[in-house]
Amino acid sequence: MAIEPDRLVIFDTTLRDGEQAPGCSMTDREKIRVAHALAELGVDVIEAGFPAASDGDFESVRLIAREIRGPVICGLARCGGNDIERAWQALCEAERPRLHVFIATSPIHREHKLNMSRDEVIRRAVEGVRVARALCADVEFSAEDAARTELDYLAEVVQAVIEAGATTVNIPDTVGYAVPAEFAERIAYLRQHVPGIERAVLSVHCHDDLGMAVANSLAAVQAGARQVECTINGIGERAGNCALEEVVMAVRTRADRMQVHTGVDTRRLAPTSRLVAAVTGVAVPRNKAVVGENAFAHEAGIHQHGMLRNQQTYEIMRPEDVGLGGSRLVLGKHSGRHAFRSRVEELGLALDEAELDRAFIAFKTLADRKKEIFDADIEALVLRSDEVGAGPWQLVKLRIASGDGPRATAEAELAHADGTRRRECAEGDGPVEAAFSAIERATGVTVELKSFDVRNVTVGEDAQGEAVVSVAHGGRSWQGKGFDTDIIQASALAFLQAVNRISARRDAEQAA
Ligand code: KIV
Ligand code: ZN
Repeated sequence: MAIEPDRLVIFDTTLRDGEQAPGCSMTDREKIRVAHALAELGVDVIEAGFPAASDGDFESVRLIAREIRGPVICGLARCGGNDIERAWQALCEAERPRLHVFIATSPIHREHKLNMSRDEVIRRAVEGVRVARALCADVEFSAEDAARTELDYLAEVVQAVIEAGATTVNIPDTVGYAVPAEFAERIAYLRQHVPGIERAVLSVHCHDDLGMAVANSLAAVQAGARQVECTINGIGERAGNCALEEVVMAVRTRADRMQVHTGVDTRRLAPTSRLVAAVTGVAVPRNKAVVGENAFAHEAGIHQHGMLRNQQTYEIMRPEDVGLGGSRLVLGKHSGRHAFRSRVEELGLALDEAELDRAFIAFKTLADRKKEIFDADIEALVLRSDEVGAGPWQLVKLRIASGDGPRATAEAELAHADGTRRRECAEGDGPVEAAFSAIERATGVTVELKSFDVRNVTVGEDAQGEAVVSVAHGGRSWQGKGFDTDIIQASALAFLQAVNRISARRDAEQAA
């Protein structure tokens, strides 16, 4: 991949490193939706998954490779076994495929995980890159735990893989251990001591265990790295990965210091962040830099006063630059399918005809209950219509009685994909608990409720509520999200989504 010297390559790994974090799993449909949004956002590389990890991962990488045009589509593979061939089978239909091979290089990983000598690790790395290069012209090599690898040895590894044909060499801080000045020195050392380093793009991949993933990535860029690996909202293993939106806005806002630019359309940052939060059920903290709800809110009187005189007194970026232009009133009861379709397209939500039909029906139903339909309402509708067919159960009716006695009661009627219907009643301390219990009884799926949140999607008395639930089942955590103008209904839909995900996984495992 030929790049200009001041172009920073944005490598998004939301669908691989992000998706592998607890509670962040996505269905194939959700992955495709996120991949389309990343392409619209203008990332250079989408790491779509780790095809050898499971048949499900293989299939989702293959779907993305077939469907997404524009960015490079990348698949991860270990050096060794038949991971690389498997990754290539998943990727080979991509317009611009990349094979990403890795092996750990640090002493602790060599000794305790791989049980390999330094020479053996280099031999495997070189072999992996050669096998990958025989299949694909674009090959990235990652030295896992590079931040804790002896510098002189890391330089040897990097030189060997470039000679073997790696076109990008990635230096991960796998455990989020580095501090910025030290990490920058590591990059500078490699640039000075590896003959032929200019033949590959130098990349970094930082985890956030000490809250320094973004700072470390930016320090590396100042030292000459030209690819940053990151995820939307910083989702990822443990404390997460480097947050894409923060790196992109830092590079843009401090172009004077960073001296690089990206190809990202920054106005798509907030919508993409909302999409990833919605499909994973992992909410964005209110005070999250760049895309949090409060990132541009000014509460203190003295700040508001300054802002009224000149926005730049307290604002270094404009909300509209990151796509937080405020809720736009877009459509109403009389808007037709054409207007609905064009707004959906402007929002970057790729829908096929059947999906558009479902979302439009849901839009008309919502428009009957709600005077004004905002962008966030449309995003919620589209995601909700995605869930149709994503699991075996649909909520047909929910009746709640509460307020008269000490306990609330719920009656839930559910339809199963096999054509049967179940109706169950349950009691609870409140209407939400009663509704959840009725759904458990009807579906036969029992879970432990871990967290439950409700917030409004837009403003106004008739605003849609968004409910997010997290439940534990079978040793794993599962998320669900629901939207409705009635918050009890939204809560029941969120709970049912989590139950549907559990049922769909159980059915798939039984069928395999
Ligand atoms: O954190 C890490 O080291 C990784 C590599 C596989 C790139 O995710
Ligand atoms: Zn990682």
